[in-house]
Amino acid sequence: MDATATTTANGSAAQPLKFLIYGRTGWIGGLLGKLCEAQNIDYVYGSGRLENRVSLEADIEEVRPTHVFNAAGVLGVPTVDWCESHKVETIRTNVIGTLTLADVCMEKGLLLIYYSTGCIYEYDSTHPLGSGLGYVEEDPTNFAGSFYSKTKAMVEELVKKYENVCTLRGRMPISSDLSQPNNFITKITRYEKVVNIPNSMTIVDELLPISIEMAKRNLTGIWNFTNPGVVTHNEVLEMYRDYVDPSFTWNNFSLDEQAKVIIAPRSNCELDATKLKREFPQILSIKDSLIKYVFHPNRNNPAASTIL
Ligand SMILES: NC(=O)c1ccc[n+]([C@@H]2O[C@H](COP(=O)([O-])OP(=O)(O)OC[C@H]3O[C@@H](n4cnc5c(N)ncnc54)[C@H](OP(=O)(O)O)[C@@H]3O)[C@@H](O)[C@H]2O)c1
Repeated sequence: MDATATTTANGSAAQPLKFLIYGRTGWIGGLLGKLCEAQNIDYVYGSGRLENRVSLEADIEEVRPTHVFNAAGVLGVPTVDWCESHKVETIRTNVIGTLTLADVCMEKGLLLIYYSTGCIYEYDSTHPLGSGLGYVEEDPTNFAGSFYSKTKAMVEELVKKYENVCTLRGRMPISSDLSQPNNFITKITRYEKVVNIPNSMTIVDELLPISIEMAKRNLTGIWNFTNPGVVTHNEVLEMYRDYVDPSFTWNNFSLDEQAKVIIAPRSNCELDATKLKREFPQILSIKDSLIKYVFHPNRNNPAASTIL
């Protein structure tokens, strides 16, 4: 094992908590490490590959964590369309790897926080767009339009049999770092044209610390990991224009027009965040959270979104 991968981040052995995190080079995994540092939580990044059981067992043996975090996954670069032409690679990490880590953690008696996706639903006649009727955690998934979403829904169905796993369904994650390419705002401000549909979204600056708290509380099961309510693409872009860059303009197009420039359909839906809000009553609605955690800190800072 890489010696640096097993060096504790803050050098402290006194902390009772010790996190083993997968996804060191990724957006969410990177932020998790920073949060651990800020909270003085001992943590180590896993050096194993998710699909390699022996490497995961070696990490756990060496690190002896109290909790494991899975922020590793294949999303496709530059977009999830990549997964349509790389199905085996997608299965290897998102299905085989995710299940292997869950299985190893169960065997070792460890709680696993698993960052997954809520892009496994789409609006339908019982949950129509604009109705305020979001999907709850127990609702059967109904979106498998993209191979990425299909594998995530399949694996969630299997992972939920593991009682040691806490599955967090994030959607269209947004953070205050407007230079981060995976940030929903960064994406849509760079698109030539955007659709305009209400969606549930995850404010990373607010909810990622909540996921650490969920580990501390040893919570398990499936959680819609989005801020309550929905916001449309245009509402987000209007806030961007009003807070960040008054000269910003954009063009909309319809779902039919969007279908011509993407390979796989995308999920659009509302998730019901009642379960998360009941556990953490302080969680803000999506629009309030956007203003507090994203747009206020970026006021009059258009350069933030143009740094590549
Ligand atoms: N970003 C989004 O829009 C979004 C939305 C909803 C849910 N999520 C979920 O959140 C999780 C993290 O997303 P992210 O945005 O942080 O992704 P990211 O920035 O693309 O990072 C992915 C991480 O996974 C690692 N990884 C990939 N395959 C691996 C494997 N087989 N074994 C070990 N590590 C592996 C990568 O490391 P290498 O570079 O070494 O491969 C990288 O560190 C994913 O599961 C994703 O599905 C993301």
